[in-house]
Amino acid sequence: SVDMPVSQRLLDWYDDHARTLPWRTPPGAAERPDPYRVWLSEIMLQQTTVAAVGPYFARFVGRWPMVTDLAAADEAELMAAWAGLGYYARARNLIACAREVTRLGGFPSTEEGLRALPGIGAYTAAAVAAIAFGERAVVVDANVERVVSRLFAIAEPLPGSRPRIRALADTITPDARAGDFAQAMMDLGATVCTPRNPRCYACPLTSACAAYAEGNPETYPVKPAK
Ligand code: ADE
Repeated sequence: SVDMPVSQRLLDWYDDHARTLPWRTPPGAAERPDPYRVWLSEIMLQQTTVAAVGPYFARFVGRWPMVTDLAAADEAELMAAWAGLGYYARARNLIACAREVTRLGGFPSTEEGLRALPGIGAYTAAAVAAIAFGERAVVVDANVERVVSRLFAIAEPLPGSRPRIRALADTITPDARAGDFAQAMMDLGATVCTPRNPRCYACPLTSACAAYAEGNPETYPVKPAK
């Protein structure tokens, strides 16, 4: 397995270790997850943890099961349901985006089309394109930045290293199962390749990991000098 590509080893790991989360379909599932649920979860997960988002996500999809329901939501009721998640501009953009998607007759399936919607930035467009539509998109959040920084032992500090991190993430992103790959990187970063005390003994990528070889994975990603 040392000569298996990083993406294949990671996807094999994900098949056994994917976290079961309310907005996901199981690893390798033929059915794609609902774009509305993927979009809503990705917006909620910006600056909020997976554990904290869970109950909010359940309440939202219970109250507004489809994007057309959210488009018709009462703004005050939506703001009340959002209370506690913070960053209230996100909630206001939520209705604007739901209305635009309803007008379009559904979510665009490409990064470019998604990027044009209210409140959808580069990260969210890539995540929804990959997870909901299976598009080959390079999805880089803080977890992915850490995993890639360690795999390639990137000495340059953040934020200057970001273009390089993205280029290297691109080199390991597979054409198939792009959504599973993106979420596998996130799960590896959240559960194994953690900021402190990474569990390298449980990692499927140690034989490819430059920071592991150096013996100092915790030193990556390098932070800017204060
Ligand atoms: N953080 C942001 N998006 C996520 C996802 N789809 N799964 C797990 N953690 C995430």
